[in-house]
Amino acid sequence: MSDLQTIAQEIRVCTLCPLANSRSLAVPGEGPLSARLMFIGEAPGKKEDLQGKPFVGHAGNVLNRALLNAGIKRSEVFLTSVVKCRPPNNRVPGQSEIHSCITAHLQRQIRLIDPEIICLLGATATRALLGLSPLKAVRGQWIVKERRYFATYHPAGAGRSHAWNNLFQVDIRKLGAFLANNKQEIAPMSTGSGPT
Ligand code: URA
Repeated sequence: MSDLQTIAQEIRVCTLCPLANSRSLAVPGEGPLSARLMFIGEAPGKKEDLQGKPFVGHAGNVLNRALLNAGIKRSEVFLTSVVKCRPPNNRVPGQSEIHSCITAHLQRQIRLIDPEIICLLGATATRALLGLSPLKAVRGQWIVKERRYFATYHPAGAGRSHAWNNLFQVDIRKLGAFLANNKQEIAPMSTGSGPT
């Protein structure tokens, strides 16, 4: 089992906060260990809770469209959320739920994947990871701390507003352009026995 799978298995049986009592399935996230781009949303919704997979509902459709427009393959990014279990009635997760889930799971996922870009989807993720609010003050900008972050609307919000959706599409295209312009250098394979 890879370390990413170990964390996912721990998330599936996690009982660190009360959201464990109301969930159907925890949603660890999905994507390859090699992902250069990681998306972090707020919390699983109804469909995600039933399927145990991230962004498979309405917000996921909005995100899929934006990824397609930006030339980003969904199969190449890692998708997850600040908290891994659906809050009852999709309420915003509480401070202690956020704190325990980030500390126990999300920080380990980030360290292991070590993405070039972390895209924070919505106000909750932006506040939880960077302590920044309001979202509109930082949306669409690169935020370079110990990592490279980018904050934009949550796709559920973008799906409810034409204006937000237009900006969301522009933002995701910026991520696509960054990935295309910063192609990772593949180290040439060594053919000889090395310096003598
Ligand atoms: N919203 C999120 O933040 N995460 C999901 O997985 C689905 C909707």
